[in-house]
Amino acid sequence: MVEVQDLWFSYDKKRWVLKGIDMELRRGEKTVLVGSNGSGKTTLFLHLNGLLVPDKGTIKVSGNFLSYTKKALTEVRKRVGIVFQNPDDQIVAPIVFQDVALGPVNLGLSEGEVKKRVKRALNELNIEELRDRKVHELSEGEKKKVAIAGVLAMEPELLVLDEPMSGLDPQSSKDLLTIIDSLCEQNDNMAVLVATHDVELAYEWADRVMVMRDGEIVKSGKPYDVLGDEEVIKSSRLAMPRVLRIYKGIEMAACGNPGVPPRNIEELLKVMRGNYWNARRRMGL
Ligand SMILES: Nc1ncnc2c1ncn2[C@@H]1O[C@H](COP(=O)(O)OP(=O)(O)O)[C@@H](O)[C@H]1O
Ligand SMILES: [Mg+2]
Repeated sequence: MVEVQDLWFSYDKKRWVLKGIDMELRRGEKTVLVGSNGSGKTTLFLHLNGLLVPDKGTIKVSGNFLSYTKKALTEVRKRVGIVFQNPDDQIVAPIVFQDVALGPVNLGLSEGEVKKRVKRALNELNIEELRDRKVHELSEGEKKKVAIAGVLAMEPELLVLDEPMSGLDPQSSKDLLTIIDSLCEQNDNMAVLVATHDVELAYEWADRVMVMRDGEIVKSGKPYDVLGDEEVIKSSRLAMPRVLRIYKGIEMAACGNPGVPPRNIEELLKVMRGNYWNARRRMGL
């Protein structure tokens, strides 16, 4: 779906912020980009729909090299939808309906089609009741959903979310993840790319994880392989997911293999219970 090759970028033309990024995103896959603050996640994202232009390297979207004419940019922004970290940077119209409709209107769609798309987007995020509300009166979580709905109304092939959980309480974060999951299920042609410094989220949720450090992707692969790599984690100023740390502790303490690595607390508890009963059995209790 998206292929980035040897991408280099500098804001001030003195210091490289992106240093030879290679990245591939596939349809139907949830990729999480983890990296500490300032590692270059947002800068990379801004390249994906042509908001920033690389100093070197190429970006391919659906098989076509990105070009920077007005027409090509309109086309790529249909395919690649970016949800910014701060919804206030994204939402421009005063009323929810107007804001979500903005993208489809700019695509030149008919009034009927615009209404249909807005309805569907609001429905997909479970926020139909916000349709006629004033944006500035909404909570942070509600604003975030409106911003996502605005992007979804464009029916993108790649949905990019920059730190989507920042500013949300745990329950709202969980709700949002559930929504993104159901979006993925409903649109199996869509690729999803999320940036976060939250390793727990990346570990539990991603199909594939990429770790970014100082403008480079230092490792990518399956969540366990990447986030269980102590050296990569440490040198990238991240922490190993807690579930994985405990699991590794059990693995070391237990005689034998405690089973498939758990991805969340519930799975971890299962591993621990299994270990407990095995130990009792070994001791003949
Ligand atoms: N508009 C900008 N102008 C100059 N430097 C910037 C700009 N935006 C970000 N940077 C710098 O680029 C680096 C990467 O930032 P950013 O992409 O925001 O990282 P992240 O999203 O991973 O926190 C940082 O050193 C940051 O200070
Ligand atoms: Mg950022």
